[in-house]
Amino acid sequence: MNELYALVKHHAGLYYDDDNPEISDAEYDALVRELKQLEQDYPQYARSDSPTQTVGGTSSVLFAKVEHSTPMLSLDNVFTPDELADFFERLDAKGYICEMKIDGLAVSLIYEDGIFVRGATRGNGHVGEDVTENLMLVDAVPKKLVDAPAGRVEVRGEVLMTWERFNSVNKLKDSRGEKLFANPRNAAAGTLRQKDSSVIAERGLDIFLYYLVDAENFGVKTQSGALEWLSLHGLPVQRAYELCDDIEGVKNFVERMRTERKNLGYVTDGVVVKLNDLTKWDEIGSTSHAPRWAVAYKYPPEEARTKILDIAVSVGRTGVLTPVAVLEPVRLAGTQVSRAGLHNADEIARKDIRVGDWVYVRKAAEIIPEVVSVDAGARKGDELPFTMPERCPACGSLIVRLPEETAYRCPNRASCPAQLTESLKYFASRDGMNINGIGKKLAEKLTVSGKIHSLSDIYTLTLEDWTTLDKIGEKSAENLLAELNASKSRPFANLITALGIPGVGKNTAALLTERFSDIDSLMNADEESLADVEGVGAVIAGSVHEFFRNEENVKMIETFRAMGFTMSSEKKNVIGKFEGKTFVFTGGLSSMTRDEAGEKVKALGGRVASSVSKKTDYVVAGEKAGSKLSKAESLGIKILSEDEFTEMIRH
Ligand code: IVH
Repeated sequence: MNELYALVKHHAGLYYDDDNPEISDAEYDALVRELKQLEQDYPQYARSDSPTQTVGGTSSVLFAKVEHSTPMLSLDNVFTPDELADFFERLDAKGYICEMKIDGLAVSLIYEDGIFVRGATRGNGHVGEDVTENLMLVDAVPKKLVDAPAGRVEVRGEVLMTWERFNSVNKLKDSRGEKLFANPRNAAAGTLRQKDSSVIAERGLDIFLYYLVDAENFGVKTQSGALEWLSLHGLPVQRAYELCDDIEGVKNFVERMRTERKNLGYVTDGVVVKLNDLTKWDEIGSTSHAPRWAVAYKYPPEEARTKILDIAVSVGRTGVLTPVAVLEPVRLAGTQVSRAGLHNADEIARKDIRVGDWVYVRKAAEIIPEVVSVDAGARKGDELPFTMPERCPACGSLIVRLPEETAYRCPNRASCPAQLTESLKYFASRDGMNINGIGKKLAEKLTVSGKIHSLSDIYTLTLEDWTTLDKIGEKSAENLLAELNASKSRPFANLITALGIPGVGKNTAALLTERFSDIDSLMNADEESLADVEGVGAVIAGSVHEFFRNEENVKMIETFRAMGFTMSSEKKNVIGKFEGKTFVFTGGLSSMTRDEAGEKVKALGGRVASSVSKKTDYVVAGEKAGSKLSKAESLGIKILSEDEFTEMIRH
């Protein structure tokens, strides 16, 4: 249960806070269901802070926090007719309304005397983010109500991006070499939580409202009446809704919309069934998570049938070989797909997937869909079974498969160009060192040209190195050098993310650096104390521990340390700590030039002199220190080794 608890939290964070899920909604729902079942079966182990008891995300630091007048709840999901029947049995009432469940993100809008004054995201259900300014830029949000009622009106609904807008946004992103949005929901969420207002206006978000808070105060007694009320006052509502007496009517609507929903122009992933008589809602009540008077009946993810033309193998950041099916292009859930994930060799064997097969593919959370099953009846006999290559397609190393692992790996961590390309892309990405300009193409060029052999090498490249990489002009090269230099001062958590420790993404890095505030305490932490960090768990703890036991990794970190990277999360008040102190350098330094060392001293308020006198406070003695060292000794001046000096400038 603890493991599930951590997993659900992890994925909820990726989904709600980062708008960047790693697993499909269906997989996430399955984890939540398993956890719920266990909590039901073993209530003695259920934790009060379980993610099943709260809704989704936390609020990001970028926006001001807003407390909701009444909690913004989620909905309980059902997936089968039986589960739907349970809902009707529990409620034992008549008169329902079916609405489409929009896959966007929930917001609350507040109008004062008909004027739009505040908009907020759901956040954790109690406290959300103030996104008023951003919603002001969304045309679909009325700034003024029609026939405005006096006083305060709060309405709730879903912000979304239509397929049409989504496709053109991704086209634009693609032309700029930016990472594409995986789906319209992520695009909508990513846009609404932007800080750059020009982007919001140009992306064109949409909104539908479905909830009138305190409806009875406006003389509204049913949900269908609420939708009418919203519409009459100029707020956009979905057209596709229907009143049903009972479960049979609901089932009919669900069936009819299964295909019709594809023509709506926006993503829906189910039908929300609500008791229409809203005067009964209060009495029926809610759990901490969802109302008891409504339920979401979710559609399974859409599938399409197509042919496998080839099975390609790519090498990932950690050397894992991933087979990818190259497909005859087919339309699926709004986009054209030509590649599908096959996960691993066992999966291919289990599903008996062969080159030339007709298969069913399905959209998961990522933009790349997955192969669900083979249409074995369509076989002609000339389909080719798949075998993993014996050698790495990128570097030719013999592929290994550890007995306890399902994955095949290229063991050449140190110099496989494919692994280095992927690591570098990740290292330079926004959540990592955020180095603008290093994307997939440049990363590939750097590794293939042999200019770099490890991540830290990119910091040692000269202007000439960059300009001799083809098509890089002097100006861009200068920009890159400046970017690289600036990246050294990124927050500690970014560095930990950038290292690419298996299982440690942005969220885990934040948890780890909160608990271990500098690199040494993190590197020296034992597995137990790592696993003790809330939200980390034994598997990731093991992975972190192992990472720091590897000699190459430690070497890399020491290189970063010597280059002056931020290696702790404490913002120590260092400015001016060398105020009034005079330093003299003698001999050669190994981790930086004497000029750089001098700059560091000055940055901290100190002075650098060229000769030793009684006024000298410190002499830093490097390799082959000469007469200055003996003079300092004779004057009894404090002498620092290079290590002592670098230690001093860090703390
Ligand atoms: S009613 C008090 N109606 O689905 C609960 N929600 O998975 C009010 N959603 O948090 C929710 N379409 O963001 C309702 N027609 C619809 C909806 C809808 C999408 C969202 C909503 C909710 C989430 C739950």
